[in-house]
Amino acid sequence: MSSVNTRRLNASNINPHVREAKYAVRGELAVKSEEYRAKIAKGDTADLPFSQVISANIGNPQQLDQKPITFFRQVLSLLENPKLLEHEDVLLQSLDYKPDVIERARWLLSKTGSVGAYSASNGVPAIRQSIADFLERRDGFPADQADIYLSGGASAGVNTLLHVICANEKTGILVPIPQYPLYTASLSVLNATCVPYFLDESKNWGTDLEAIKKSCADAKARGVDVRAIVIINPGNPTGASLSESDIRDMIEFAREERLVLMADEVYQTNVFVGEFVSFKKVLRTLQKENPDGKYDSLELASLHSISKGMVGECGHRGGYFELVGFEPAVQAEIYKFVSITLCAPVIGQCLVELMVNPPKEGEPSYALYRQEYDGIFNGLKQRAYALWRAFEKMEGVECGEPQGSMYLFPTIKLSAKAAEAAAADGRTADEFYSLRLLEATGVCVVPGDGFGQKEGTLHFRTTFLAPGTEWVGSIIKFHEEFMDKYR
Ligand SMILES: Cc1ncc(COP(=O)(O)O)c(C=O)c1O
Repeated sequence: MSSVNTRRLNASNINPHVREAKYAVRGELAVKSEEYRAKIAKGDTADLPFSQVISANIGNPQQLDQKPITFFRQVLSLLENPKLLEHEDVLLQSLDYKPDVIERARWLLSKTGSVGAYSASNGVPAIRQSIADFLERRDGFPADQADIYLSGGASAGVNTLLHVICANEKTGILVPIPQYPLYTASLSVLNATCVPYFLDESKNWGTDLEAIKKSCADAKARGVDVRAIVIINPGNPTGASLSESDIRDMIEFAREERLVLMADEVYQTNVFVGEFVSFKKVLRTLQKENPDGKYDSLELASLHSISKGMVGECGHRGGYFELVGFEPAVQAEIYKFVSITLCAPVIGQCLVELMVNPPKEGEPSYALYRQEYDGIFNGLKQRAYALWRAFEKMEGVECGEPQGSMYLFPTIKLSAKAAEAAAADGRTADEFYSLRLLEATGVCVVPGDGFGQKEGTLHFRTTFLAPGTEWVGSIIKFHEEFMDKYR
């Protein structure tokens, strides 16, 4: 029997802004890599030159080697199944739960009621207070729990903020290039204007204030209402970590241009070189140094997440943003906006609490927590350096020393012959290279094009989360063969 297609929707009549949005991190290559994975799982490997897929395309720590931190999961297990708390003796004596695990679970349960219940729209008040206490310890300046909003990952926070900031298609948001495509994709969906500013590869992907000023001025000259600037620190895909003086410059620029600062600080604990300095700390310091109130009405939204760092609990979807200097009426609209989706997952909120308030020295769970945390940190650093050293040896590949986050973003110089082959295949050269890499090795990276890159340059982004070194060897071998083929 032939069926008649009476569906109301097709790809050309849906919201065109959704269609236009690009999100390469989970694009064609990622889909293909999942097809390979399914084939391997079925044992259907006869025509594949590799036996495993390495998802180096996405910062998804626990999909690869990273193990969850025991303290976090033990507390969560009790939150999900509070009946276990009726058997403390079993927990303590047979399952190696420590008294502080039980104490924290009881405390979180007393504050949430049940993790199966909706919480306040901006998050459980006691969790917001715990975050405020953490921010005060981190920055040395007080934080107010009323300015903190729990979110389903930093992505949901970015979505909220961009929805509220973007009034129409003339609203412009300065976005670093290369960047994590959440920003460009969300701006496409909102039909607002992305105002790109290029990071400086020659300075290991630092910010280039002159380039930012020029992008902003050019956009304003085109009639764009530039309202906010996004800074990802430490960077994705670059790993670059900003110094305090870079941050001061950015704040000064935002003040002069009356821009909202959106500081995406989800990689704040993934720092190998130097130390993380928060925008909030620098802003508060500037406010203290300038009692004339020059910096007092600057609006800063900073975001954090349980997805990255040594926590790596991205599947649990937890994060928060803190607002500084926003008008109460705007904040009320932000509150309303988050209310529309009720609240962030409560179990994710609890994980945020555990992240910002982990076991302290002297507490029963501290030794294991420290051991696991340091083990993950050192493992990431070692893998970052192993991969970087491999890139150093590869012809036509240049890569800055790893600084932080979970990624390396090498430049690749490909021959004219490779570029012609890519064009014949209807692809950009970096996409062509990354696709051939996947087909030959099972290693899935993201072409630089997915993050934006200066015209005439080519890159790819790879995480350094995957265990072992075999896959690094397979990249080296592939690269040699690719370079020889297109010489
Ligand atoms: C810079 C940056 N911001 C935000 C996110 C999203 O994080 P979340 O899982 O908290 O939504 C990511 C994820 O990779 C990221 O790299």
